[in-house]
Amino acid sequence: MLLDRISDRHELRLLQIEDAQELFALTDANRSYLRQWLPWLDLITQVDDTRNFISRTISQFIEHESVVAAIWDRGKIVGLVGFNRIDRQDRIGYIGYWLAESARGKGIMTKSCQSLINYGFTTLKLERVVIACATKNHHSRAIPLRLGFIHEGVIRDAEWLYQEFVEHDIYALSIEDWKKS
Ligand SMILES: CC(C)(COP(=O)(O)OP(=O)(O)OC[C@H]1O[C@@H](n2cnc3c(N)ncnc32)[C@H](O)[C@@H]1OP(=O)(O)O)[C@@H](O)C(=O)NCCC(=O)NCCS
Repeated sequence: MLLDRISDRHELRLLQIEDAQELFALTDANRSYLRQWLPWLDLITQVDDTRNFISRTISQFIEHESVVAAIWDRGKIVGLVGFNRIDRQDRIGYIGYWLAESARGKGIMTKSCQSLINYGFTTLKLERVVIACATKNHHSRAIPLRLGFIHEGVIRDAEWLYQEFVEHDIYALSIEDWKKS
């Protein structure tokens, strides 16, 4: 399902089972680069792992618990973006993302997040969108800052990243901030 066209060559589409082979190949090709900041690379060792992940995202979408989209560049997947978790009680969406190394530096993720945020505040009726980034992940932190998020604080020992705990900077955008922007 098409979520949005973010440029003349880029689209956000909900992940579907047919994407498993291509998504696994992309993950595998970017494994060491992604492993620096994402904790799940060692859990994805074969295409079935990606298929199971996609299957979970589809069930969660049906239950309104997450919305995970592939970013397509002229017919090829170049990354993922999504509300990895939706807190329906408090109407908060938690955004996560990654791009293939070759797709970086072009503003694709900033545009993808902008689109997802619009979808979150309009279609999902969220009140608040949160992005948590490892403090040393400067490329990731630049995205919420570019989009006008407010830095709300730091969580110590927020995530176990293979060999150490890392701290997270928390950025958030409320619906009021979004309406003003
Ligand atoms: C985090 C991540 C998605 C950021 O990728 P990115 O390419 O820096 O982000 P964008 O696609 O928004 O591109 C921004 C870059 O494009 C440039 N750019 C070019 N055109 C642009 C435009 N129209 N709008 C915004 N930026 C633009 C920006 O200047 C910036 O480049 P810079 O870093 O040299 O300043 C990527 O580094 C990644 O996947 N990392 C590994 C996984 C990860 O860390 N995930 C996040 C965990 S919290």
